[in-house]
Amino acid sequence: MKAIILSGGKGTRLRPLTYSGAKQLVPVANKPILFYCIENIVQAGITDVGIIISPETGQEIRETVGDGSRWGIQIKYIIQDVPGGLAHAIKTARDFLSDSSFVMYLGDNLIGTRIDRFVSEFNSTTPEALILLKEVENPKQFGVADVTKEGTVLKLIEKPDDPPSNLALVGIYIFSPKIHDAIGKIKPSKRGELEITDAIQKLIDMGCNVESFILDMWWLDTGKKDDMLTANVIVLDEWLKESIDAQVDDKSNILGRVSIGRGSVVKDSKIRGPVVIGENAVIENAFIGPYTSIGNNSKIIKSSVEHSVIMDGSELIDIERLEESLIGRNVRIFRNHKMHKALRLMIGDDSVVEV
Ligand code: TTP
Repeated sequence: MKAIILSGGKGTRLRPLTYSGAKQLVPVANKPILFYCIENIVQAGITDVGIIISPETGQEIRETVGDGSRWGIQIKYIIQDVPGGLAHAIKTARDFLSDSSFVMYLGDNLIGTRIDRFVSEFNSTTPEALILLKEVENPKQFGVADVTKEGTVLKLIEKPDDPPSNLALVGIYIFSPKIHDAIGKIKPSKRGELEITDAIQKLIDMGCNVESFILDMWWLDTGKKDDMLTANVIVLDEWLKESIDAQVDDKSNILGRVSIGRGSVVKDSKIRGPVVIGENAVIENAFIGPYTSIGNNSKIIKSSVEHSVIMDGSELIDIERLEESLIGRNVRIFRNHKMHKALRLMIGDDSVVEV
């Protein structure tokens, strides 16, 4: 079995972060989302992996991920010229996939379980497609499946007005090579994309067996700010391991699960886990509260922050309280004591500032 990870797309919902980089590389608990996808695929024993990239962000993904040797696998990169939809991405990967069955994993999706269970299920029951479903409260916003009690998929509908169930399609699928025939038979949707829901529906219409697996763990589509913060909370809560490889002075106090990387310095500060701090960071006269991820080479000085993601190279100086914030790379936020009540900002397009 092979795997493809979809890491192209436009990423409009995560602007401005996606103006300067790929959304699949945005860190959750200081690790790019894409790495969680790769690790899950590796754990399922798949060693032949193709990553779909866009011309705009592909190079950054190649440089960050490499050739797969660090995971003991082979990674090939497949350029998708335009973000033509998830089924279009499969079409683009046709040569790489050859006649193999394959896992398709959306590079911005995180799930709280290993995928080896689904791969085993697919291998033992040999359907033409196995899709993952998750019960959601707001099915109207998702691709929704109508399934029998046994889990056979009868119908798929994209963002239905009248949902037949509350089972939404999760961004992880397993296909036999029959999916290529189905994709060959579909037309672009109203939004101009070759939709994966249409391709799977076409498989069903062709009389093929499409089965489902209901996910009993959390699933996050990290496409928006709030989802990113939720992902950060869940991953820190469930997967963070304690490890302190930094200089921490006597006046500092660290409680709970905290990981701090090499070369970092903590002075006269309080840290309350779960918290991850990268390498070469400076934390001074600060309070770092639960569910915070702070990137490499960042500085938090005379400030208090919790429930936030602060990416590499950013500085927070003299900021009384920062909460539920997502701060990009190399950002400086500091208090200017000469200015009373005025804010002076230089903020990129599509940013959100709440004061
Ligand atoms: P989406 O989040 O559905 O699309 P998007 O990345 O264009 O985002 P937005 O809606 O915010 O503009 O895509 C899911 C994943 O699949 C994501 O990792 C990007 C990837 N993708 C491709 O690789 N090729 C494509 O043609 C599309 C549509 C998405």
